[in-house]
Amino acid sequence: MKNIHRPLVAITRQIPSIGMEMLRRRGFRVRLNKNNRACTREELKSFVKGASGMLSLLTDHIDGVVMDAAGSQLKIIANYAVGYDNIVLSDAKVRNIVVTNTPQVLNRSVAEHTIALMFACAKRIVEADRFTRAEQYQGWAPLLFLGTELFHKTLGIVGLGRIGSQVAQIARAGLSMKILYADVQRDIKFEQKYGARYKTLQQLLLEADVVTLHVPLLPSTRHLIGARALALMKKNAILINTSRGPIVDEKALTRALKNKKIFAAGIDVFECEPAIDCDVRDDLALKRLENVVLTPHIASATHEAREEMAGLAAKNIIRVLSGRKPISPVEMMTVL
Ligand code: GLV
Ligand code: GLV
Repeated sequence: MKNIHRPLVAITRQIPSIGMEMLRRRGFRVRLNKNNRACTREELKSFVKGASGMLSLLTDHIDGVVMDAAGSQLKIIANYAVGYDNIVLSDAKVRNIVVTNTPQVLNRSVAEHTIALMFACAKRIVEADRFTRAEQYQGWAPLLFLGTELFHKTLGIVGLGRIGSQVAQIARAGLSMKILYADVQRDIKFEQKYGARYKTLQQLLLEADVVTLHVPLLPSTRHLIGARALALMKKNAILINTSRGPIVDEKALTRALKNKKIFAAGIDVFECEPAIDCDVRDDLALKRLENVVLTPHIASATHEAREEMAGLAAKNIIRVLSGRKPISPVEMMTVL
Protein backbone atom coordinates (compact mmCIF):
# COMPACT_ATOMS: atom_id res chain seq x y z
CA MET A 1 0.00 0.00 0.00
CA LYS A 2 2.82 2.36 0.94
CA ASN A 3 4.91 1.15 -1.99
CA ILE A 4 4.17 4.22 -4.00
CA HIS A 5 5.86 6.42 -1.38
CA ARG A 6 9.05 4.44 -1.27
CA PRO A 7 11.63 6.08 -3.52
CA LEU A 8 12.39 4.22 -6.72
CA VAL A 9 15.90 3.39 -7.85
CA ALA A 10 16.34 2.46 -11.50
CA ILE A 11 19.31 0.20 -12.25
CA THR A 12 19.96 0.26 -15.96
CA ARG A 13 21.51 -3.20 -16.18
CA GLN A 14 22.26 -6.23 -14.03
CA ILE A 15 25.21 -5.59 -11.70
CA PRO A 16 26.53 -7.79 -8.85
CA SER A 17 23.54 -8.42 -6.59
CA ILE A 18 25.12 -6.88 -3.49
CA GLY A 19 24.20 -3.41 -4.74
CA MET A 20 20.57 -4.30 -5.27
CA GLU A 21 20.32 -6.08 -1.95
CA MET A 22 21.66 -3.04 -0.08
CA LEU A 23 19.07 -0.81 -1.73
CA ARG A 24 16.21 -3.22 -1.05
CA ARG A 25 17.26 -3.66 2.58
CA ARG A 26 17.10 0.11 2.99
CA GLY A 27 13.51 0.06 1.78
CA PHE A 28 13.91 1.40 -1.73
CA ARG A 29 11.94 0.07 -4.63
CA VAL A 30 14.35 -1.26 -7.20
CA ARG A 31 13.62 -1.42 -10.92
CA LEU A 32 16.13 -3.49 -12.85
CA ASN A 33 16.65 -3.71 -16.58
CA LYS A 34 16.75 -7.45 -16.99
CA ASN A 35 17.74 -7.40 -20.66
CA ASN A 36 21.22 -8.69 -21.21
CA ARG A 37 22.16 -5.50 -23.07
CA ALA A 38 22.20 -1.77 -22.50
CA CYS A 39 18.95 0.18 -22.91
CA THR A 40 18.47 2.07 -26.15
CA ARG A 41 17.94 5.79 -25.68
CA GLU A 42 14.16 5.44 -25.98
CA GLU A 43 14.12 2.50 -23.57
CA LEU A 44 16.24 4.43 -21.12
CA LYS A 45 13.85 7.39 -21.14
CA SER A 46 10.86 5.27 -20.20
CA PHE A 47 12.87 3.00 -17.90
CA VAL A 48 13.95 5.84 -15.58
CA LYS A 49 10.52 7.48 -15.34
CA GLY A 50 9.65 8.18 -11.71
CA ALA A 51 13.08 7.28 -10.34
CA SER A 52 14.63 9.24 -7.47
CA GLY A 53 17.94 7.52 -8.03
CA MET A 54 19.57 6.07 -11.10
CA LEU A 55 22.34 3.55 -11.09
CA SER A 56 23.79 3.98 -14.56
CA LEU A 57 26.47 2.41 -16.70
CA LEU A 58 29.17 4.00 -18.79
CA THR A 59 27.29 2.82 -21.87
CA ASP A 60 24.24 4.97 -20.96
CA HIS A 61 24.45 8.45 -22.43
CA ILE A 62 22.69 10.60 -19.87
CA ASP A 63 21.80 14.17 -20.70
CA GLY A 64 19.07 16.61 -19.70
CA VAL A 65 16.50 14.81 -21.85
CA VAL A 66 16.98 11.56 -19.94
CA MET A 67 17.03 13.43 -16.62
CA ASP A 68 13.75 15.16 -17.48
CA ALA A 69 12.26 11.86 -18.60
CA ALA A 70 12.98 10.55 -15.09
CA GLY A 71 11.22 13.54 -13.55
CA SER A 72 11.94 16.34 -11.09
CA GLN A 73 12.22 13.87 -8.17
CA LEU A 74 15.53 12.58 -9.60
CA LYS A 75 18.25 13.42 -7.06
CA ILE A 76 21.19 11.22 -7.88
CA ILE A 77 22.84 9.50 -10.80
CA ALA A 78 25.31 6.95 -9.48
CA ASN A 79 27.52 5.91 -12.37
CA TYR A 80 28.85 2.38 -12.14
CA ALA A 81 32.33 3.41 -13.38
CA VAL A 82 35.18 5.68 -12.44
CA GLY A 83 34.82 7.54 -15.75
CA TYR A 84 31.76 9.74 -16.19
CA ASP A 85 32.14 11.16 -19.67
CA ASN A 86 28.79 9.51 -20.49
CA ILE A 87 26.97 12.01 -18.27
CA VAL A 88 26.41 15.64 -19.20
CA LEU A 89 27.45 17.14 -15.88
CA SER A 90 26.26 20.64 -16.66
CA ASP A 91 22.73 19.26 -17.28
CA ALA A 92 22.84 17.54 -13.88
CA LYS A 93 24.15 20.65 -12.17
CA VAL A 94 21.36 22.93 -13.35
CA ARG A 95 18.83 20.35 -12.15
CA ASN A 96 20.54 19.94 -8.78
CA ILE A 97 21.18 16.28 -9.43
CA VAL A 98 24.18 14.76 -7.69
CA VAL A 99 26.45 12.65 -9.87
CA THR A 100 28.71 10.05 -8.29
CA ASN A 101 31.27 7.59 -9.67
CA THR A 102 33.15 4.59 -8.30
CA PRO A 103 36.78 5.65 -7.81
CA GLN A 104 39.40 3.80 -5.73
CA VAL A 105 37.68 0.41 -5.57
CA LEU A 106 38.78 -0.48 -9.09
CA ASN A 107 42.34 0.89 -8.95
CA ARG A 108 44.00 -2.45 -8.35
CA SER A 109 42.01 -4.28 -11.01
CA VAL A 110 42.65 -1.69 -13.69
CA ALA A 111 46.33 -1.42 -12.75
CA GLU A 112 46.70 -5.20 -12.88
CA HIS A 113 45.02 -5.28 -16.29
CA THR A 114 47.42 -2.58 -17.48
CA ILE A 115 50.38 -4.66 -16.34
CA ALA A 116 48.83 -7.76 -17.92
CA LEU A 117 48.59 -5.96 -21.27
CA MET A 118 52.17 -4.76 -20.88
CA PHE A 119 53.37 -8.34 -20.46
CA ALA A 120 51.09 -9.63 -23.21
CA CYS A 121 52.63 -7.09 -25.61
CA ALA A 122 56.23 -7.42 -24.45
CA LYS A 123 56.20 -11.22 -24.49
CA ARG A 124 53.85 -11.50 -27.49
CA ILE A 125 51.65 -13.86 -25.52
CA VAL A 126 48.46 -13.63 -27.57
CA GLU A 127 50.18 -13.80 -30.92
CA ALA A 128 52.14 -16.85 -29.74
CA ASP A 129 48.97 -18.46 -28.41
CA ARG A 130 47.28 -18.05 -31.79
CA PHE A 131 50.33 -19.55 -33.50
CA THR A 132 50.48 -22.51 -31.15
CA ARG A 133 46.77 -23.29 -31.41
CA ALA A 134 47.04 -23.17 -35.17
CA GLU A 135 49.59 -26.01 -34.83
CA GLN A 136 52.28 -23.94 -36.48
CA TYR A 137 54.83 -24.79 -33.82
CA GLN A 138 57.55 -26.87 -35.47
CA GLY A 139 60.05 -27.02 -32.61
CA TRP A 140 62.12 -24.70 -30.49
CA ALA A 141 63.89 -21.99 -32.45
CA PRO A 142 66.33 -19.29 -31.36
CA LEU A 143 64.49 -16.47 -33.04
CA LEU A 144 60.89 -17.56 -32.51
CA PHE A 145 58.68 -14.76 -31.15
CA LEU A 146 61.37 -12.51 -29.81
CA GLY A 147 59.89 -9.99 -27.44
CA THR A 148 61.31 -7.52 -25.01
CA GLU A 149 62.02 -7.47 -21.28
CA LEU A 150 60.29 -4.99 -19.01
CA PHE A 151 62.77 -5.11 -16.15
CA HIS A 152 64.56 -1.76 -15.65
CA LYS A 153 62.78 -0.26 -18.64
CA THR A 154 61.22 3.19 -18.53
CA LEU A 155 57.49 3.49 -17.89
CA GLY A 156 55.74 6.69 -18.93
CA ILE A 157 52.47 7.32 -17.13
CA VAL A 158 50.19 9.84 -18.78
CA GLY A 159 47.74 11.02 -16.13
CA LEU A 160 48.95 10.40 -12.61
CA GLY A 161 45.75 9.79 -10.73
CA ARG A 162 44.75 6.90 -8.51
CA ILE A 163 45.10 4.27 -11.23
CA GLY A 164 48.32 5.66 -12.71
CA SER A 165 49.92 5.65 -9.25
CA GLN A 166 48.91 2.05 -8.69
CA VAL A 167 50.49 1.05 -12.01
CA ALA A 168 53.69 2.84 -10.93
CA GLN A 169 53.73 0.94 -7.67
CA ILE A 170 53.50 -2.48 -9.33
CA ALA A 171 55.99 -1.58 -12.07
CA ARG A 172 58.47 -0.23 -9.57
CA ALA A 173 58.16 -3.02 -6.99
CA GLY A 174 57.98 -5.90 -9.43
CA LEU A 175 60.07 -4.77 -12.36
CA SER A 176 62.28 -1.95 -11.04
CA MET A 177 61.00 0.21 -13.89
CA LYS A 178 62.03 3.85 -14.07
CA ILE A 179 58.95 5.99 -13.75
CA LEU A 180 58.18 9.13 -15.75
CA TYR A 181 54.86 10.90 -15.60
CA ALA A 182 53.04 13.70 -17.35
CA ASP A 183 50.07 15.42 -15.78
CA VAL A 184 48.57 18.86 -15.42
CA GLN A 185 49.82 18.79 -11.83
CA ARG A 186 53.11 17.87 -10.29
CA ASP A 187 53.11 15.46 -7.35
CA ILE A 188 56.32 15.81 -5.35
CA LYS A 189 55.36 13.10 -2.86
CA PHE A 190 54.85 10.63 -5.66
CA GLU A 191 58.20 11.60 -7.17
CA GLN A 192 59.96 10.95 -3.88
CA LYS A 193 58.18 7.69 -3.22
CA TYR A 194 58.88 6.13 -6.62
CA GLY A 195 61.90 8.08 -7.77
CA ALA A 196 59.61 9.33 -10.52
CA ARG A 197 60.36 12.22 -12.84
CA TYR A 198 57.86 14.82 -14.04
CA LYS A 199 57.96 15.33 -17.81
CA THR A 200 56.11 17.12 -20.54
CA LEU A 201 54.05 14.71 -22.62
CA GLN A 202 56.47 15.23 -25.49
CA GLN A 203 59.53 14.37 -23.40
CA LEU A 204 57.78 11.37 -21.87
CA LEU A 205 56.91 10.00 -25.32
CA LEU A 206 60.51 10.40 -26.44
CA GLU A 207 61.94 8.58 -23.42
CA ALA A 208 59.48 5.88 -22.38
CA ASP A 209 59.68 2.22 -23.38
CA VAL A 210 56.10 1.71 -22.25
CA VAL A 211 53.52 4.50 -22.36
CA THR A 212 50.32 3.96 -20.40
CA LEU A 213 47.28 6.26 -20.46
CA HIS A 214 45.25 7.07 -17.34
CA VAL A 215 43.59 10.40 -18.09
CA PRO A 216 39.84 11.05 -18.10
CA LEU A 217 38.14 11.78 -21.41
CA LEU A 218 37.74 15.56 -21.68
CA PRO A 219 37.77 17.90 -24.67
CA SER A 220 41.43 18.54 -23.83
CA THR A 221 42.40 14.84 -23.82
CA ARG A 222 40.55 13.71 -26.96
CA HIS A 223 43.14 12.42 -29.44
CA LEU A 224 45.92 13.28 -27.01
CA ILE A 225 47.81 10.44 -28.67
CA GLY A 226 47.64 11.05 -32.40
CA ALA A 227 50.04 10.74 -35.33
CA ARG A 228 52.42 13.36 -33.96
CA ALA A 229 52.61 11.79 -30.51
CA LEU A 230 53.07 8.31 -31.95
CA ALA A 231 55.89 9.58 -34.16
CA LEU A 232 57.76 10.70 -31.04
CA MET A 233 57.65 7.24 -29.46
CA LYS A 234 60.56 4.82 -29.64
CA LYS A 235 60.50 2.14 -32.30
CA ASN A 236 60.47 -0.50 -29.57
CA ALA A 237 57.86 1.21 -27.43
CA ILE A 238 54.59 -0.28 -26.24
CA LEU A 239 51.41 1.78 -25.82
CA ILE A 240 48.73 0.71 -23.32
CA ASN A 241 45.26 2.24 -23.17
CA THR A 242 42.91 1.25 -20.37
CA SER A 243 41.35 4.73 -20.06
CA ARG A 244 38.93 5.79 -22.81
CA GLY A 245 39.10 4.99 -26.50
CA PRO A 246 38.95 8.53 -27.91
CA ILE A 247 42.12 9.52 -26.01
CA VAL A 248 43.92 7.77 -28.87
CA ASP A 249 43.43 8.58 -32.54
CA GLU A 250 42.77 4.97 -33.44
CA LYS A 251 43.41 5.41 -37.12
CA ALA A 252 46.81 6.94 -36.44
CA LEU A 253 47.58 4.11 -34.01
CA THR A 254 46.59 1.48 -36.53
CA ARG A 255 48.86 3.07 -39.09
CA ALA A 256 51.77 3.28 -36.63
CA LEU A 257 51.37 -0.38 -35.68
CA LYS A 258 51.03 -1.51 -39.26
CA ASN A 259 54.17 0.38 -40.27
CA LYS A 260 56.02 -0.90 -37.16
CA LYS A 261 56.61 2.64 -35.91
CA ILE A 262 56.11 1.25 -32.43
CA PHE A 263 56.52 -2.33 -31.19
CA ALA A 264 53.01 -3.08 -29.96
CA ALA A 265 49.88 -1.79 -28.26
CA GLY A 266 47.56 -3.20 -25.60
CA ILE A 267 44.11 -1.74 -26.01
CA ASP A 268 41.13 -2.23 -23.70
CA VAL A 269 39.00 0.68 -24.93
CA PHE A 270 38.03 1.73 -28.44
CA GLU A 271 37.31 5.00 -30.11
CA CYS A 272 33.99 3.84 -31.60
CA GLU A 273 33.13 1.30 -28.93
CA PRO A 274 31.80 -1.37 -29.19
CA ALA A 275 33.17 -1.33 -32.77
CA ILE A 276 36.84 -2.32 -32.75
CA ASP A 277 37.57 -0.16 -35.75
CA CYS A 278 35.86 3.12 -36.57
CA ASP A 279 37.04 2.59 -40.09
CA VAL A 280 36.15 -0.84 -41.38
CA ARG A 281 38.31 -0.71 -44.49
CA ASP A 282 40.25 -3.96 -44.68
CA ASP A 283 43.67 -2.45 -45.20
CA LEU A 284 43.58 -0.39 -42.03
CA ALA A 285 41.97 -2.43 -39.29
CA LEU A 286 43.27 -2.79 -35.76
CA LYS A 287 41.83 -6.25 -35.45
CA ARG A 288 43.86 -7.53 -38.38
CA LEU A 289 47.21 -6.61 -36.88
CA GLU A 290 49.36 -9.08 -34.98
CA ASN A 291 51.19 -6.51 -32.84
CA VAL A 292 48.16 -5.39 -30.87
CA VAL A 293 46.44 -7.09 -27.95
CA LEU A 294 42.74 -6.29 -27.69
CA THR A 295 40.44 -6.75 -24.70
CA PRO A 296 36.77 -5.68 -24.58
CA HIS A 297 36.79 -2.92 -21.92
CA ILE A 298 37.35 -5.33 -19.05
CA ALA A 299 40.13 -3.66 -17.06
CA SER A 300 37.93 -3.39 -13.97
CA ALA A 301 36.21 -6.72 -14.57
CA THR A 302 37.19 -8.67 -11.49
CA HIS A 303 34.79 -10.06 -8.90
CA GLU A 304 36.51 -7.90 -6.29
CA ALA A 305 36.25 -4.60 -8.14
CA ARG A 306 32.79 -5.09 -9.58
CA GLU A 307 31.29 -6.04 -6.21
CA GLU A 308 32.86 -3.05 -4.53
CA MET A 309 31.66 -0.81 -7.36
CA ALA A 310 28.11 -2.10 -6.86
CA GLY A 311 28.33 -1.50 -3.11
CA LEU A 312 29.76 1.98 -3.52
CA ALA A 313 27.16 3.04 -6.10
CA ALA A 314 24.37 1.74 -3.83
CA LYS A 315 25.81 3.55 -0.80
CA ASN A 316 25.98 6.80 -2.74
CA ILE A 317 22.30 6.44 -3.64
CA ILE A 318 21.28 5.53 -0.10
CA ARG A 319 23.14 8.52 1.30
CA VAL A 320 21.80 11.09 -1.11
CA LEU A 321 18.21 9.83 -0.91
CA SER A 322 18.38 10.05 2.87
CA GLY A 323 19.62 13.63 2.71
CA ARG A 324 23.28 12.97 3.36
CA LYS A 325 26.44 13.70 1.39
CA PRO A 326 27.55 11.05 -1.12
CA ILE A 327 30.84 9.22 -0.59
CA SER A 328 32.23 9.85 -4.06
CA PRO A 329 30.65 12.81 -5.86
CA VAL A 330 32.29 13.68 -9.16
CA GLU A 331 34.10 16.95 -9.18
CA MET A 332 31.87 19.49 -10.78
CA MET A 333 35.02 21.52 -11.36
CA THR A 334 35.36 19.65 -14.62
CA VAL A 335 32.11 21.25 -15.82
CA LEU A 336 33.37 23.88 -18.18
C1 GLV B 1 35.51 1.88 -16.72
O1 GLV B 1 35.86 2.14 -17.84
C2 GLV B 1 35.26 2.85 -15.72
O2 GLV B 1 35.30 4.05 -16.01
O3 GLV B 1 35.00 2.45 -14.57
C1 GLV C 1 65.11 -22.97 -23.03
O1 GLV C 1 64.19 -23.74 -22.97
C2 GLV C 1 66.37 -23.17 -22.39
O2 GLV C 1 66.59 -24.24 -21.80
O3 GLV C 1 67.20 -22.25 -22.48
